[in-house]
Amino acid sequence: MLCLSRAWRLLIDLRLLRLLSCIFLVFEYQAAECKKDLKSACSTCRQITDNFNKGFERTANQNFGGGNTAWEERKLSKYETSEIRLMEIIEGLCDSSSFECNQMLEEHEEHFESWWFKRKNPDLHKWFCIETIEVCCPKGTFGPDCNACFGGSERPCHGNGQCDGEGTRGGNGKCNCDSGYKGEFCLDCSDGYFNEERNNTFSLCTECHASCKTCNGPNHQDCDECKDGWEEDDNEACVDVNECTKDPSVCKEDEHCLNSEGSFSCKACDKVCTGCSGPGPENCKACASGYQDIEGKCSDVDECSQHEPVCTKEHQECINTQGSFLCICAYGYEEENEECVQKPLLGECKTTTEETTETTEHVEL
Ligand SMILES: *[C@@H]1O[C@H](CO)[C@@H](O)[C@H](O)[C@H]1NC(C)=O
Repeated sequence: MLCLSRAWRLLIDLRLLRLLSCIFLVFEYQAAECKKDLKSACSTCRQITDNFNKGFERTANQNFGGGNTAWEERKLSKYETSEIRLMEIIEGLCDSSSFECNQMLEEHEEHFESWWFKRKNPDLHKWFCIETIEVCCPKGTFGPDCNACFGGSERPCHGNGQCDGEGTRGGNGKCNCDSGYKGEFCLDCSDGYFNEERNNTFSLCTECHASCKTCNGPNHQDCDECKDGWEEDDNEACVDVNECTKDPSVCKEDEHCLNSEGSFSCKACDKVCTGCSGPGPENCKACASGYQDIEGKCSDVDECSQHEPVCTKEHQECINTQGSFLCICAYGYEEENEECVQKPLLGECKTTTEETTETTEHVEL
């Protein structure tokens, strides 16, 4: 309808080319596409009128360009209401890069002149966008005929959502509810919310307790259904499930379990453990190789101080490490063919590189 009425106006203007392109548009685009265009036409128009108001303020204290003396103010016709001021305002209405804006402005520039000189409609947006070029609608209404939004034009969607196309000639007036609300009129509560207040025109939805999937009140006794990770206790309240006490264990063998409200997590055991029931070397089920249980704590075995020597070759020394040990050649000896041989004496050295080479032997128990 909009396109048609606009087309007639264009016909009168003998802008035949534009008429053809408008008809082309009507047939070419899907209805949805057309509605989107109507929404964006309104926002373009709003941008223009907003910029007009800004320009009006910006030029409020200007004059015809010279000084600002009392003589000039008396002598010259009033800048305030002049065409020059209007032109200065119009220049700032559209970004040069905005095609839609410049097109709309070009098409309707004469309306600004008539509005400017008649000076009887203070609200430019209402007069221009809603009543004159008919791309916008009053607050709370939508669509070609500016019908009331779902839930009424006073409080569209009962204040709990956005009405599709509100304030424009596009959209379908349906509600896109805020989080926590659902239903055609945004009066119902989403899962995880409950109605704290409700009548035919008003609804306040509040979040349930963290333990509830659905509820009828704020506490954990008010759940209709418990969330995953929670279960009903003897008092019909939802309480945390301790997943860590389950058999078989919910974690891997080299992990321990940490329970939390509504959930759990698995943490790696300390490296001195083979299996564990908690963090650190105190909670091992068994000790990893190279470690032994000393007073309930897995500690490193000092292989070097064991009764049976572990480094058995001549001139070899033992060095203890965490969980293991090393056998290295004693000072003044170096490894050659897996034996520790005396280093050449100073002065009869062969090459410097060979002299500094030290090989260590790592032995795993
Ligand atoms: C509905 O509830 C709201 C908020 O409590 C109240 O302002 C309004 O008057 C009520 N309307 C009706 C019809 O009861």
